[in-house]
Amino acid sequence: MTTESPESRPALPDHEIPTVEVDELRRTQLERLQRTVRAAYDNVSHYRAAFEANGFHPDDLRSLEDVRALPFTTKADLRANYPFGMFAVPREQVVRVHASSGTTGRPTVVGYTKADIDTWADLMARSIRLAGGHPGDVVHVAYGYGLFTGGLGAHYGVERLGATVVPVSGGMTERQVQLIRDFQPRVIMVTPSYFLSLLDEMEREGIDPAATSLEVGIFGAEPWTESMRREIEGRTGMDAVDIYGLSEVMGPGVAQEAATTKDGLHLWEDHFYPEVIDPITEEVLPDGEVGELVLTSLTKQAMPVIRYRTRDLTRLLPGTAVPSMRRMEKVTGRTDDLMIVRGVNVFPTQIEEHVLADARLSPYFQCVVTQPGRMVELTVLVEPLTRLDAGAAEEIERTLEATIKARLGTTCRVDVREPGSIERSIGKARRIVDERPST
Ligand code: DLL
Repeated sequence: MTTESPESRPALPDHEIPTVEVDELRRTQLERLQRTVRAAYDNVSHYRAAFEANGFHPDDLRSLEDVRALPFTTKADLRANYPFGMFAVPREQVVRVHASSGTTGRPTVVGYTKADIDTWADLMARSIRLAGGHPGDVVHVAYGYGLFTGGLGAHYGVERLGATVVPVSGGMTERQVQLIRDFQPRVIMVTPSYFLSLLDEMEREGIDPAATSLEVGIFGAEPWTESMRREIEGRTGMDAVDIYGLSEVMGPGVAQEAATTKDGLHLWEDHFYPEVIDPITEEVLPDGEVGELVLTSLTKQAMPVIRYRTRDLTRLLPGTAVPSMRRMEKVTGRTDDLMIVRGVNVFPTQIEEHVLADARLSPYFQCVVTQPGRMVELTVLVEPLTRLDAGAAEEIERTLEATIKARLGTTCRVDVREPGSIERSIGKARRIVDERPST
C-alpha cells in the first residue's frame, strides 16, 4: 500500500486521543477502506479470489455501507494461508511477525511493516492515555512477551507515550511483586486473572495491595466482568479499565476504555471499521444490538484484514469520552466459549458474576463441561478463601447452584474445592475445561 496523501492525515498526531468530528471521520474511513480493499485485491490472492466469488470489484466500493458486499474473513482463511499467504507486501518489508498460540492445529501468523508497528505504537499510546496513563509514568508490563502480541504491543505503546516501560512479561510472581515494590509503577498492564495472582502474592507477603504505587490497571486479553472490576478496585483502590484487541487485527489497542467513564471500550475507528453481525444469519445488526464483532483494518499494510469475524460478542454504542468514536460494550464471551447446557446458553462471564458475589469464595473458578450420556453437563469448580468444614462447603454448593438456576436458567453442579487448588494462569485464564468426547 502506498503512503497516505497529506490531506488524509488527521490533524493531531496519531498517538494523541483524536478530537475529529464524525463527518470527517467517516470521510477518512471511506478513503482508507478503499485503499485497503484495493491493496488486498491487488496483492493477496485469497482476497482476490474471495472478492471475485462475491462478484465484487474494488471499484464497487463507493460508500462505507458497500463494505457489506465484501466477503467475511475467518480464522480458517488465515490457517489455510499459513504462514505468510495473507501478506500484502513482499516478505522483506515485514519487520515483525506474531502468532496466536493455536491450541488446535496450525497457529495463525500475522505480520507488520515498519509503518504498521508505528501505527500500533500510536494506538497503544492513545489507549494508555485514555486509561489514565501519562507521559513520565512508570508502567509495569506483565503481559507475555514473544509471539503473543500483549507484551510487545504494550511495550511499544509505553515508549511512544513517553513513559518508562518495565518489560517484566508473565510469570515469576514473587519477582513481579518485588519489582512493583521497588520500581513504584503507577500503571500496570496485565491480564485481569494474572493480576489476581499478583494480589494474592502481595497479601501472602503481608503487603497491602491498596498501599502500593499502582493507580491504574489496564486489563484485557480475556473477558472480565463488572463484578471483577469491583473486586479489583475494592482490593486496590486503583482504576481498573478494559483494553481489547486481537492479533489477527493488530494486537492490543483496537479498543480502549476511558478511566473517566468506565462505560465500555472506544474503538479506534480511524484505523478499524467495526460491524456487528448475527453470527448465524451473518446479517449486519443495527448499533445497540448484541452480536459478533466484525473488524476491517483501515491502515494496515503487511496484513490487511477485511471483515474479520472476531467471534467476540458485544454491541456498538455511541461515543462518550471520545465523542466521534463508537464504543463496544465489554465483551461477554466468544461464540466458541458458549456452553449449551440442556438447551440453555451460558458464558463463563455469567458464572463469574455469581462466584464473585459470594464473599467466602476466591475469584478463581472453572467450568467443566462433560457429556456422560446424551446430555451435556456443567460442573462449576470454585474454591473458598479459607478451608471450610463439609457442612459450610455444601451450603455454598447448594446456594450457588440455586442462584445459577434461578438467574441463568441452567442446572449445574457446583463443587467447592480446596483453597488454592484451581488452576492459576500467568496469561489468559482457562475458564472452560471441555471433557466431552471429541466428535
Ligand atoms: O489477546 C491481544 C491483547 C493483549 C488484548 C493484551 C488486550 C491486552 P489474541 O491472543 O489474538 O490477542 O486473543 C484475542 O482475546 O478475540 C477476545 O476473545 C479476547 N480478548 C482480548 N481482549 C479482550 C477483552 C490478544 N478486553 C482474543 N475482553 C479476542 C474480552 C478479550 N476478551
